[in-house]
Amino acid sequence: MDTLINDIEVIKTKKTKIHDVDFDNLSFGKTFSDHMLECDYKDGKWQAPKVVPYAPISLDPSAKIFHYGQSVFEGMKAYKDENDNVLLFRPIDNFKRLNISSKRLAMPELPEAYFMEGLKALLKVDSDWIPKNDGSSLYIRPFVFATGKGFHASPADEYKFVIATAPSGSYFAGKVKVLIEEKYSRSANGGVGFAKAGGNYAGQFYPTQLAIEKGYQQVIWTDDNTHEYIEEAGAMNIFIRINDTLITGPTSDRILDGITRKSIIELAEAEGIPVEVRKISVSEVVTAAKNGTLKEMFGAGTAAVISPIAGFGYKDEDFDLPELENTYASSLKKRITDIQTNKSEDPFGWRYNV
Ligand code: PLP
Ligand code: COI
Repeated sequence: MDTLINDIEVIKTKKTKIHDVDFDNLSFGKTFSDHMLECDYKDGKWQAPKVVPYAPISLDPSAKIFHYGQSVFEGMKAYKDENDNVLLFRPIDNFKRLNISSKRLAMPELPEAYFMEGLKALLKVDSDWIPKNDGSSLYIRPFVFATGKGFHASPADEYKFVIATAPSGSYFAGKVKVLIEEKYSRSANGGVGFAKAGGNYAGQFYPTQLAIEKGYQQVIWTDDNTHEYIEEAGAMNIFIRINDTLITGPTSDRILDGITRKSIIELAEAEGIPVEVRKISVSEVVTAAKNGTLKEMFGAGTAAVISPIAGFGYKDEDFDLPELENTYASSLKKRITDIQTNKSEDPFGWRYNV
């Protein structure tokens, strides 16, 4: 299936926007770099990818993305070390997950070379857009969506693969409090929860808005069947520390198999932290919060990195987490970001030099 691409056509912008950007005050995903990668699927195959100036995309009103939501995406980051080497973190895992998502939505899978060589070509042209300040990076958003026309409710015959990038700072602006959901569901058995499908996020927005109105930033989803078990948050997987043990729920066809999550599990085990991957009931978390054994909760994801959770709400009760001096969240965050940015050895082989 792999096709090697020798030369990716690059059409450069006539005017860079980089001088308008304040790299010391970056928010998340709001400023876009000069170029994007674009690649069309038609006549049953992927056409040659191109790097082009970042610009709006024009679509037919009957394009199936608008009606039937065939759209999947990925989230990655590029970093620069002090010698200006451009680095990625486990990018092949993102590539594989994009294809897993596409397959579930009856969309064509991409050859690895189109993804990897296309991404490298884009990063080469826009390498000045990769921030070097601590805590900032170039957020990379690869996505595939249906451009094929028609109101018939069936898979499209044409698609577009795009990689857009955005120099970004932290995903969350302040303290993160979460609401454990007791009514709505993000995903169901046999559904598309494990896929990074656009519709999974659209479905979360309304319940998340309700949570925001109550003073929480994210919803922690519970299983759709009983709402008794913790699944994941809107944009990150969840870790819970009870006494000294770090616990995270198992992945399933309802949960995104996070690359940060699996890296944290390996890192924690290597540090000698007791780790359990098992179902976590809401009542276990509430009991631990009440008897003082709940020490930490944090979210893990590409955008979120490791985001400590300051408190949670459940059924009209509010619980604050203790403010510990040495947290697993801060030590694991340092371990993972040091590997990502080449400040430490990478015994796992996760770092990828572009
Ligand atoms: N869960 C959801 C719903 C997400 O959107 C993300 C972000 O990508 C994650 C978990 C974390 O996944 P990863 O660590 O691969 O970014
Ligand atoms: C990421 O962490 O890269 C994601 O895709 C989460 C997104 C909702 C910002």
